Amino acid sequence: MQVITTVIELRQHLAISAGAQGKSVAFVPTMGNLHAGHLSLIELAKQHGQCVVVSIFVNPLQFAVNEDLSSYPRTLDDDIAKLQLADVDVVFTPIESEMYPVPQTITVEPSEIANVLCGANRPGHFRGVATVVLKLFNQVFFNNPQRKIAVFGKKDFQQLFIIRELIQQLSLPIEILAGETMREADGLAMSSRNAYLKPAQRMEAQRLYRALQQVVQAAQGGRCDYAAIEAQTTQYLTQLGWIVDYISVRSSVTLAPATAADQQLVVLGAARQGRTRLIDNIEFVK
Ligand code: PAF
Repeated sequence: MQVITTVIELRQHLAISAGAQGKSVAFVPTMGNLHAGHLSLIELAKQHGQCVVVSIFVNPLQFAVNEDLSSYPRTLDDDIAKLQLADVDVVFTPIESEMYPVPQTITVEPSEIANVLCGANRPGHFRGVATVVLKLFNQVFFNNPQRKIAVFGKKDFQQLFIIRELIQQLSLPIEILAGETMREADGLAMSSRNAYLKPAQRMEAQRLYRALQQVVQAAQGGRCDYAAIEAQTTQYLTQLGWIVDYISVRSSVTLAPATAADQQLVVLGAARQGRTRLIDNIEFVK
């Protein structure tokens, strides 16, 4: 496994180890603090690509000033050990000045969908995500004529949706694969931010998933008064001490608010336990 920190070295290495050998590249972008969720994305990458590249970069552009950029868990040595065991080919770990050698005055502005759900609570977040992801794609896939695959988790459903739009609208020759959400035994979606939870908050945290499951049950039981279901679920969680950013039933195809005619649905939720913001979602068919 090669650990590479500069773009020039990454391109040179991949030109020889993948491009020249006709190998497809499967890329998994991460912000590190790797857990079983990331490792499952890497497994998916290994099933579909011949050369697996993982990036670790905590991207300042996607954090607002009041967010957890400085406290975001950075566990590079542990991460590299896990990637070695996972038999990854290349780990790209640029420092901030490598990724942003000059102020990033050109950014990718996603569509309006970036301003709802998580985007409403985190203004500019998806602009930062789309910009770094496009840069990473250019860094990893540059000069490789072979098949290009990038893997993202379904846990970040809105992010995945926006990346798919980016691929389509900017004509990027990259296939996107979506990995299932990995869960703890009690159902809590795996996330690096779970490490912030105090023991009592950790006990309570699984309730977000349970609440989303109840929404699915209500919808599949025939209800389509989604606004009422969302309000009831928000009230339920709020009474239990959660600060709810949103509970929203949407079309999983367009991400527009669900109508009674929609069959392919997703319920998404974001809520805080203390200062820890958790997100989760369940895709379902009505
Ligand atoms: O999902 C993440 O970890 C990040 O948003 C990503 C895609 C690595 C971009 O920084």
